[in-house]
Order: sequence, then structure tokens, then C-alpha cells
Amino acid sequence: MTGYDITIRNREGRVVHVDADRFLLEALEDAGFRLPFGCRFGACLTCAASVVEGEVDQTQGRAYALRPEQAADGYVLLCVAKPRTDCTVDVGVRRDLYVNQFRNGMRRRDRSAGSRDGR
Ligand code: FES
Repeated sequence: MTGYDITIRNREGRVVHVDADRFLLEALEDAGFRLPFGCRFGACLTCAASVVEGEVDQTQGRAYALRPEQAADGYVLLCVAKPRTDCTVDVGVRRDLYVNQFRNGMRRRDRSAGSRDGR
């Protein structure tokens, strides 16, 4: 089986050889990494990583949680990504991607409309 060397840049540059048909999250866990995960099917962003160099395949349409612009910027979801070349990645980058839709707060009137007594 063809495989590729995956360098985890922000984990002391450790290198793991991963078969081309394996999802990166599973393969890295088997190599001893403790990585964040949630759904394991591409829906939650918890396992997000940044590909600094190289290519992965997540074209099976399973990276549901990634916006196209995030994928274009090199972010991947390790639970649904398989290596296609040797890669260098940073893991644990979910905070870079999460968009808080309420970061600007709700207007006062919007908040009171949802309260029990309507104040
Ligand atoms: S664990 Fe949820 S997207 Fe990977």
C-alpha cells in the first residue's frame, strides 16, 4: 500500500507514515497522538488541521463543516482526509475556524422579545 510521511509541525515535528487509504485522524491516533475529535464524520470542525505543505483528499464530500474558503486556505478535517502526498500539518486549529455568529451581540429589543416576561 502506498503511504506518505505526515509531519506534525506543532507536535515537535513528529513524523508518521500513513497509508493512502486511511483517514489521518485514525492513523495519527494509532501512532499515539491524542487529538481533538467530535463527530468523526466531518460535521463539527473539532479535528480541524492546517496543511502547511502537501495535499490531502477530502473530495468524498464529507468535510461538511468546512466552508469553501477555509478549504481553499488549506484547512482540512482529519477525520475525513486521506493523504495524497507527504504533508506537513498543524493540528488543533479549530479556534482559527469557528465563527461566532453572535459575536456582535443581539440588539436589546431582540433579547427582550425572547424573555419570559417580555421586558
Ligand atoms: S471530528 Fe467532527 S469534523 Fe472531524
